[in-house]
Amino acid sequence: MTQNSVLAIVLAAGKGTRMKSDIPKVMHALAGAPLLVHVLAAAKSASVEEICVVVGPGMDEVASAARGLDPALPVFVQPEQRGTADAVKAAQDAFAGIAGPVIILYGDTPLLRGETIGRLRAALAEGADLVVIGFEAQEPTGYGRLLLDESGTLIGIREEKDASAEERAITLCNSGIMGFSSGKTLTDLLARIGNANAKGEFYLTDAVALARAGGLDTRMLRGQADEVLGVNSRAELAQAEAAMQGRLRDKVMAEGATLVAPETVFLSHDTRIGRDVIVEPNVFFGPGVVIEDGAIIHSFCHFVEAHIGPCAEVGPYARLRPGADLGPDTKVGNFVEIKKSQLAEGAKVNHLTYIGDTSIGARANVGAGTITCNYDGIAKHRTEIGAGAFIGSNSSLVAPVKIGEGAYVGSGSVISKDVPPDALALTRSPQEERPGWAARFRKRQTRK
Ligand code: UD1
Ligand code: MG
Repeated sequence: MTQNSVLAIVLAAGKGTRMKSDIPKVMHALAGAPLLVHVLAAAKSASVEEICVVVGPGMDEVASAARGLDPALPVFVQPEQRGTADAVKAAQDAFAGIAGPVIILYGDTPLLRGETIGRLRAALAEGADLVVIGFEAQEPTGYGRLLLDESGTLIGIREEKDASAEERAITLCNSGIMGFSSGKTLTDLLARIGNANAKGEFYLTDAVALARAGGLDTRMLRGQADEVLGVNSRAELAQAEAAMQGRLRDKVMAEGATLVAPETVFLSHDTRIGRDVIVEPNVFFGPGVVIEDGAIIHSFCHFVEAHIGPCAEVGPYARLRPGADLGPDTKVGNFVEIKKSQLAEGAKVNHLTYIGDTSIGARANVGAGTITCNYDGIAKHRTEIGAGAFIGSNSSLVAPVKIGEGAYVGSGSVISKDVPPDALALTRSPQEERPGWAARFRKRQTRK
């Protein structure tokens, strides 16, 4: 690391008691990704040179979520949850002796923007010893309150449980994002933090008053309340989700997609929607979805890990599961489920159909009520439908099976053998007819 390169330590060891959950707090999902992943992404977008994470004992899933972004990312374990200062200490091997600034981020503040970390960085580069991002809270309960002197200089942080009635009335709060000019400044301050407070914890926030007492330059920068919301309860998780959804919707609209009723469309952190895509009301985008330019998504669709090609038309009521890959100008209609399957250009699957582990050739037409029987109770098998093939309604294609190019499958067939190109395959039983039977039947019934 060079003199000015920055280390960010993300604290994620807290149990999150208020979530009433068996899952570590930072693993709860926001827009389809764990809270922690959002914080790491913000640090990366601020070009923070080094990032490390502090987790609790046995929080292997937290460590692997962090390493999913960067396999070399150092993960430290805080053996006991004794407060935020104690958590930072767990990472001392990462910062002891480093000359550059150290920024502390909390894994439960997922709305943080990279620019805000950038502003903190700039203040440290200007010579501040300790910088805190504060914000005006409409509802300050639960946050540490920022104490300023008459000149507006930050002199301390008081945690809710230790605050006097007067201090509780303060609405300027601690976001939890804090920067120190160097590893040494941080090490010196941590050594002096005690736990004589209402919770008996080592509060990182005590570093501010200690820094003042030591004559250091402490500063406060104002952040936006919408980016520092700390998620401690399910209600706050829902608030954060709403804020994140607002941002994601604004972003896809700014990039040229029409959301007819944006407040009803749910996006994931990584949803990619092209230009001139129209999304009708009530559509859910799980993680890993890409929609290319000009596609139309009708109402009530559910997509996860799916790719929709240019000018495709999907829904209403379509479900695209992982590995659904729709080519250009394809059509997928109502009550159709598609999984691990490719539709080549112009292919149509318009009604009431299940397509799994299948490739469908260009311009093939799959009729209403077709089922690819891909699972035999033990293994999954593939179906191949050639270009230009026509699958009659209410057919079952028992995989593994191939329907040749241009072949026809008669409606209502159960196809368990390969069909050659351009052939007609049909397994229907012959139709029986009894002339005049219906008229005689009606007569008999009305006589009774
Ligand atoms: C903390 C701040 C408070 C601030 C608020 C902003 C302290 C003492 N208080 O309170 O001033 O207004 O965040 O959201 O810092 N953690 C550990 N190990 C621990 C304890 C916590 O890693 O022993 C982690 C948690 O996983 C979490 C973060 O530190 O990501 C903050 O802990 P949390 O318990 O949520 O603190 P708050 O009460 O929210
Ligand atoms: Mg918190």
